[in-house]
Amino acid sequence: MTTTSITNVIAAEARNVLQVYRRGQIVFERGSGTRLYTHEGRSYIDLISGVGVAALGHAHPGLADAIGAQARELLHTSNLFFHPLQAEVAARLSALTGLDRAFFCNSGTEAVEACLKFARRYWHAQGSPRGKFVALEHAFHGRTMGSLSVTWDDQYRAPFQPLIGDVTFVGADDPAGLLAAVTGQTAAVIAEPIQGEGGVRPLSLEMAAAITASCRATGALLIADEVQCGLGRTGRPVYSAALGLKPDLMALGKSLGAGVPIAAAMFSEKVAAKAAFGDHGSTYGGNLLACRAALVFLTELTESGLMSHVADMGRHAEGRLKALAARQPAVKDVRGAGLMWGIELDRPAADVVQAALDRGLLVNRTADTVIRLLPAYIITAEEFDAGIDILEDALAAVIEGAQK
Ligand SMILES: Cc1ncc(COP(=O)(O)O)c(C=O)c1O
Repeated sequence: MTTTSITNVIAAEARNVLQVYRRGQIVFERGSGTRLYTHEGRSYIDLISGVGVAALGHAHPGLADAIGAQARELLHTSNLFFHPLQAEVAARLSALTGLDRAFFCNSGTEAVEACLKFARRYWHAQGSPRGKFVALEHAFHGRTMGSLSVTWDDQYRAPFQPLIGDVTFVGADDPAGLLAAVTGQTAAVIAEPIQGEGGVRPLSLEMAAAITASCRATGALLIADEVQCGLGRTGRPVYSAALGLKPDLMALGKSLGAGVPIAAAMFSEKVAAKAAFGDHGSTYGGNLLACRAALVFLTELTESGLMSHVADMGRHAEGRLKALAARQPAVKDVRGAGLMWGIELDRPAADVVQAALDRGLLVNRTADTVIRLLPAYIITAEEFDAGIDILEDALAAVIEGAQK
């Protein structure tokens, strides 16, 4: 690809693609492990992995072989018929999450939608319908109407009002507020065990305990949104367990297909038992291609030591990032677990993200002042350190520029 054709790619997008993404001005041509390359051969260290999706790194040979083999065999037959892979993925997800049944879809927001629908379905089936949801400030659950209704940021919500109305938001670390908000009318409480888009903020143990207490007192169901923090991202199968939470429903996505779109809503038997044929569906959800990719990911995660590698790397990352915070006064906080980290700055993070990009490092900004890291699970300590060296240099350059 030539430089002119890159300009053409960008110009063609400006003409024909809905303008909702403010993209970095780069066209990547190929990837390998934790690196991405442009046509000119410029190499980038990738510490964001397609927003937490490319968990096995780029161009993983086992994944590529499996996808190719599946494409030569059979890709898609729809949910009108059986195929052998859905139940296999579902059984593995049950083992990881402790929840009994899966519904397959294609994106995190669809997984959340399914959770919201079946939380209401549960109460409808009892003959005592409950419509209300309690969600947390700074929550992000997706962009479709239901998920958006439990997403906090008004910038995302305002242009699309009216959303579903029965949502009460409480402070993300306000146990008393939560206990007051959850009532006998609440269908479900929904929470990310670690808020991702909200700035990489793990729930406190006190907040988690209040969620459990309020659900127990009122019967409200608990939906854990593990789309970003689940499936090994923190070195654990799911992060809700680390907080002592016992969700009735759970949304999974991102890393599940390691780049092939697949997501899942998980249900306890109590909730799943209320579902009836025809209640919900998806044309693509859990097709052969997506399930085959998910099986490669889940096998790597659980049978090749990848989960414990993430846990080891998490300890390394924590040490490295806390050392950075101790040296650099512009870093106000580092938060996270495993390979999900937020570096909170005393200033907007956008300039630092751009300076990192200029130096060959991919990270992203979230919640304005937070730099987010979601590297591939296969990253090594050397690769992580090389990325943080660049980040430190980028941060120093931005601070120096601001002082001039
Ligand atoms: C916690 C959480 N839930 C839901 C979503 C929505 O996922 P998707 O973009 O795949 O629809 C995201 C995406 O970032 C997320 O982080």
